[in-house]
Amino acid sequence: MPIIEASGLARTFSSRRRKVEAVRGVDLTVHSGEIVGFLGPNGAGKTTTLRMLTTLLRPTAGTATVAGCDLLRDPLGVRRRIGYVPQAIGVTAGGTDPNCTVAEELAIQGRAYRLSAADTAARVGLLTRQLDLTGLEPRLCKTLSGGQRRRLDISLGLIHSPGVVFLDEPTTGLDPQSRSNMWEHITSLREKLGTTIFLTTHYLEEADALCDRVLIIDNGKIIASGVPEELKRQIAGDVVTLSVTGDHAQAKDILAGHPSVREIALDGRSIRMTVEHGEEALPAMLRALDGQGIALASIQLARPTLDDVFLTLTGRSLRDDSSSADPGPDFAAGGGEPHEGGESSEDSTAKDALAGAGNKGRS
Ligand SMILES: Nc1ncnc2c1ncn2[C@@H]1O[C@H](COP(=O)(O)OP(=O)(O)O)[C@@H](O)[C@H]1O
Ligand SMILES: [Mg+2]
Repeated sequence: MPIIEASGLARTFSSRRRKVEAVRGVDLTVHSGEIVGFLGPNGAGKTTTLRMLTTLLRPTAGTATVAGCDLLRDPLGVRRRIGYVPQAIGVTAGGTDPNCTVAEELAIQGRAYRLSAADTAARVGLLTRQLDLTGLEPRLCKTLSGGQRRRLDISLGLIHSPGVVFLDEPTTGLDPQSRSNMWEHITSLREKLGTTIFLTTHYLEEADALCDRVLIIDNGKIIASGVPEELKRQIAGDVVTLSVTGDHAQAKDILAGHPSVREIALDGRSIRMTVEHGEEALPAMLRALDGQGIALASIQLARPTLDDVFLTLTGRSLRDDSSSADPGPDFAAGGGEPHEGGESSEDSTAKDALAGAGNKGRS
């Protein structure tokens, strides 16, 4: 059953100086219980899409249904049913007051959503266990490590038992160990609480390790979507690099005739090929070389990564951050939108805005 369905979602930011088409017609479907990753370089439009889906930013065009409620007609309904964890700006991002303790911050969040003291306590107990925050309740938020702070942010986003939670770059800035630890927590939220998770990331490994399905976004448009393994196989193919003892040009011509070879190039004294189902195709290819008296000197088969998928589709590498440098919303603060300030100012109020839905909804 789809829990998020968007069609033609678009957002343009305009100012006197320039116009940015941050999101240019996004269609997506997320099913209940899925972990879906929105993968793309900085500035691709991930946060903007998330802020539209969480009702914090009005789309320039398009429609969406989130948790059964229409984004434009029933934003309050959406807000009540979702959790949102904004992108961290610093170590204390997402928190209300760094001088609060963990327990206080969770209690404040429970009250903001109008949970009874008993419900809050039960929920906090569950979430602190689930997100490994037990024992940290008396600690001041400002003393938490980056990983602990992010886990607290997620607990805050889940306080009101939403069926779907939006996580914006949940592991950015974390060290590799905290990152893989966070992946386990996110997976277990789905396993234990049945939460649907829609997250953004610019980490290939994260999308690969954590997500059932990935949507790859670049320049405001989804350029590919699917199960990571299928995307890699369909779009990128296996990369085979080999060298021979005889004539490389002749070897290249022989290999190029094989139906599984998608691309082939001579690179110095080695031949580089993109091959479909490399492990199945190779024996016949090697026999063909052998038949012409060409002996193999070395061979290597590399499984494609999601970066190869991105590279194949865009000609750029997602790892190369300079190619995807985001100019940033330089005019955001003073821009032409009285109710929608810059990214950071808006995100810092996001929690209050969403929690406010709890207030109005239940009072
Ligand atoms: N409030 C804003 N005002 C103007 N431009 C913005 C604003 N928010 C985002 N942008 C621009 O929109 C594009 C997409 O940004 P964003 O959605 O934050 O990307 P991502 O989250 O993928 O890094 C970027 O070029 C960014 O500078
Ligand atoms: Mg972002």
